[in-house]
Amino acid sequence: MSPESERRMRMEPYRIKVVEPLPAISRSERERALAAADFNLFRLRSTEVIIDLFTDSGTSAMSTEQLAALMRGDESYAGSSSFFRFEQVVGELTGYKIVLPCHQGRAAERILFSCLLQGGDLTLSNGHFDTTRANIELCGAEARDLPSPASADLAAAAPFKGDIDLEALTATLAGPEGDRVRAVVLTITNNAGGGQPASMANAQAAAALCRSHGVPFLLDAARFAENAYLVGRREAAWAGRAPREIAEAMFALADGAWISLKKDGIANIGGVLALNDEALADRCRDLLIATEGFPTYGGLAGRDLEALAQGLLEVTDEEYLASRESAAAYLAALAEDAGVPTVRPPGLHAVYLDAARLLPHLPWSAFPGQALACELYLEAGIRSVEMGTLMLGHPGSDGEPDTPAAHELLRLALPRRVYTQSHLEYVGEALRAVAARAVAIPGYRIVQAPRALRHFSARLEPVRVDAVEPSSALPA
Ligand code: F0G
Repeated sequence: MSPESERRMRMEPYRIKVVEPLPAISRSERERALAAADFNLFRLRSTEVIIDLFTDSGTSAMSTEQLAALMRGDESYAGSSSFFRFEQVVGELTGYKIVLPCHQGRAAERILFSCLLQGGDLTLSNGHFDTTRANIELCGAEARDLPSPASADLAAAAPFKGDIDLEALTATLAGPEGDRVRAVVLTITNNAGGGQPASMANAQAAAALCRSHGVPFLLDAARFAENAYLVGRREAAWAGRAPREIAEAMFALADGAWISLKKDGIANIGGVLALNDEALADRCRDLLIATEGFPTYGGLAGRDLEALAQGLLEVTDEEYLASRESAAAYLAALAEDAGVPTVRPPGLHAVYLDAARLLPHLPWSAFPGQALACELYLEAGIRSVEMGTLMLGHPGSDGEPDTPAAHELLRLALPRRVYTQSHLEYVGEALRAVAARAVAIPGYRIVQAPRALRHFSARLEPVRVDAVEPSSALPA
């Protein structure tokens, strides 16, 4: 790469046309807001948040072309021209024959799994996202993660920690449980596992295994462009290939995909289910009509379909993806420099902090990721999301202890095209202040929570450091 292109790759490839003021909220107001939210950041109002790194989902800034496309939105109930544009863009990108729009990713998951799974079935994945798991379990099926062994070491800079464990996949498909496996899902990138990418070689091998066992191979492709970019950067066989070409090649390996378009659709709402199996798609379409809407809008407005079609063309732009890579790397370096360990190497959509290592005095049962999230909010009004035992562990029944998550992480997600380098520097300074008083940070306990997807609505309260149960050791 020439010095000029390298220089260009480090800056955001856009300028700002519309701005939105950041809320001003003082420390004492934040203390009150957090207590009123029962120490659950899902319960805060956005006006109580200064920098919102809660999620990269639905929080993107649209381009001038997307805003212009909104005006083209055809709001006809049936046969909207906006749908046909959307269908063409998704069809050309993924190569799948049937394109069913849905209002967001989990709607596609619910429809697909209701039509595919029965009680007792098993799905295998590099990492089921929380809503994916919930929708599988609602069908009475089991969602089992087979993460790459490389993902266990958070600090090791292995390039493809989002791979599925091929040895475990081979053994499960060929073993006594093989005939229970109804689908293999590759989540690209693996959000629950630190936003790490899966390699093309891994996807090829998984696809071949699935074919030989007659099991559908599906992509949960919320961040397909970011995964494709990282394949181009980290996998020798794909070096120098355009992200769009790599994305198309990965879709071509699978029998179908669902995409939460709130991420790499760079829009505020939307999802899609795209399949080759016509019989399965027919069943999904019937359910779509009953629960989302007619198949030419699927719960979306015509204007949303237009914005998504345009976003899907923009998202594989290499300069844009390179600026996401450098933003995530910059924030990860600021965190490390402040003494906060991160999951290495950083991906694109987020920086994940290793809360268990920063707060060794807090066992998993005191939710160290949540403790760090609350502290970062109190320090600087930054909202982030726990991805540890609160979100990804299995709640114990009838007073039994939870089964902890593999790691106690805190995710700092990077909305697309929203924050600048000085915002990231503000976050870095806040992390430094929090890290300096790590030993005094209290743990949390759940006061009240539902059993499924409890992190969305749980009520929590702080527990003094010296009151934390010493018996619950950190997971190995
Ligand atoms: N799959 C993955 C990998 C996801 O990250 C998400 C959402 C979904 C499916 C569900 O899609 O939100 O459109 O219904 N992840 C968001 C996040 C919520 O913050 O990571 P959805």
